[in-house]
Amino acid sequence: MDNAQTGYGRISRLNHWFAAAVVIGMLAVGLYFHDMPRGEEKLYWLHLHISVGALAWLWIMFRVFWRMGRGFAPAMPQAAIKQHISKLVHVLLLTGIAVMFISGPLTIWTGGRAIEIFGLISIPSPIPEMHDFHELLEEVHEITARVMIGLISLHVLATIVHLVFHRQALRGRMWGSLK
Ligand code: HEM
Ligand code: HEM
Repeated sequence: MDNAQTGYGRISRLNHWFAAAVVIGMLAVGLYFHDMPRGEEKLYWLHLHISVGALAWLWIMFRVFWRMGRGFAPAMPQAAIKQHISKLVHVLLLTGIAVMFISGPLTIWTGGRAIEIFGLISIPSPIPEMHDFHELLEEVHEITARVMIGLISLHVLATIVHLVFHRQALRGRMWGSLK
């Protein structure tokens, strides 16, 4: 279950692919409703975004802290500069996930609203309404989303480059046989 010498363990892999799917889905939905005019359709997508985010919240936070607590698997055999860049991008991706999952719920609560999960569960705000902080959090949520698009693109591009040119180095790290 733990990370092996040359790759990530079962829990890390499950965490990685679950979070990747959630983050990409949240990004897609967020960007989709962002420019919509106010109305029923925008509200539908916003509620879906909030409900899925709230349901996934505990697992996503566990995923971030699990990695921070366990550290990364030993770097792939490649130039030291590439190892440093890869680690930096991973740290920034984890930070981005945490910022999105903290700013999202706080945006709702500082706006004086409750978090509604599929109309079934309502989590009332434990904090008072704070207009200026609410505006700031909205900005943070939006800007971090844009930064994450860049980071994820870089991350996926690096994976593709490895798959094409150094396929062997990727084996058993995030998929394939556990060593
Ligand atoms: C389909 C898209 C993706 C692919 C193909 C992919 C592939 C990979 C691979 C192969 C590794 C292992 C790197 C190594 O062995 O050093 C990895 C690690 C990592 N990936 Fe992705 N990834 C994807 C999406 C994402 C997304 C959306 C995020 C976060 C927003 C993310 C965050 C991370 C992080 C933080 C690591 C370091 C290990 C960990 O904590 O999971 N990945 N990814
Ligand atoms: C990695 C996870 C997430 C990503 C990638 C993401 C992405 C986005 C994007 C692209 C937007 C549209 C830009 C904007 O209007 O600010 C947005 C808006 C929003 N998101 Fe997220 N989000 C994530 C997590 C969450 C979570 C966990 C919640 C709450 C439970 C949440 C609540 C909101 C709200 C309330 C808005 C509308 C903000 C506004 O009124 O402008 N998000 N999100």
